[in-house]
Amino acid sequence: MKRVVFNQKGGVGKSTISTNLAAESARRGLKTLLVDLDAQGNSTHYAGVDISDDTLTVADMFKQIVGWFSKPQPATAFVQPTAFDNLFVLPADPALATIERELESRYKMFKLRETLDALSKDFDRIYIDTPPNFNFYSKAALIAADAFLVPFDCDHFSAQAIERLLDNVMEIKDDHNQALDFAGVIINQYNPQAKLPSALIGELEEKGLPLFDTRLSSSVKVKESHSARMPLPFFMPSHKVTKQLMALYEEIEGE
Ligand SMILES: Nc1ncnc2c1ncn2[C@@H]1O[C@H](COP(=O)(O)OP(=O)(O)OP(=O)(O)O)[C@@H](O)[C@H]1O
Ligand SMILES: [Mg+2]
Repeated sequence: MKRVVFNQKGGVGKSTISTNLAAESARRGLKTLLVDLDAQGNSTHYAGVDISDDTLTVADMFKQIVGWFSKPQPATAFVQPTAFDNLFVLPADPALATIERELESRYKMFKLRETLDALSKDFDRIYIDTPPNFNFYSKAALIAADAFLVPFDCDHFSAQAIERLLDNVMEIKDDHNQALDFAGVIINQYNPQAKLPSALIGELEEKGLPLFDTRLSSSVKVKESHSARMPLPFFMPSHKVTKQLMALYEEIEGE
């Protein structure tokens, strides 16, 4: 099962959520791959993976696809281990930004799907983190995935942007990946005391969008786990926000 976490708006929680869902999957004993398609590399960093000049990354994997790589490598060569059992990363690197235009002009958007299909034989679950743009990489991820999850940060601009987001995703689905399932919207940084989040969530419900029941609170522990480079299920397994994340994981898995 390949799931992509996508929202073209920045800072809504894509990297936090994709890394933590992958970590929770790994903690439960499933061999899990986190694919980081954002040149910022936030998920790679959060999962504790350091990139050196010799590290093979997802950018190298794309370079191989266009034939820029001298020695052909199997897809597994680009996968890096983490300090956490069962959790592996296909890491980002800044070169993603420099090769994007070339990949786009050569119509390589469908190649990620082939690679991840090959890796599906080795992994029980694949989570894909995307950049905050509807660009080559997010399109490739939406073509490669079985399902998409949309983090929503209870912000007025996010609510305004969601229709355009869904139009974009549905175009990819219609044209290239009809089996793509809209798993649901993940309410992040939810504050039950404030009026605006409930009003915005009400608007999403009126539009008929699928929303997960579990909402993620805003917590300083999220930021602390980022600086510790340790996803929440390992950093603070019994904290409220970790429990919410685990409940969300079960909802996504249909448990
Ligand atoms: N539940 C939460 N509680 C507290 N802080 C949060 C929570 N979720 C996300 N954040 C914070 O919000 C910021 C953005 O989160 P994150 O990087 O996961 O978003 P993103 O959508 O991946 O951003 P980008 O679009 O830049 O890739 C980070 O500083 C993160 O620590
Ligand atoms: Mg991110």
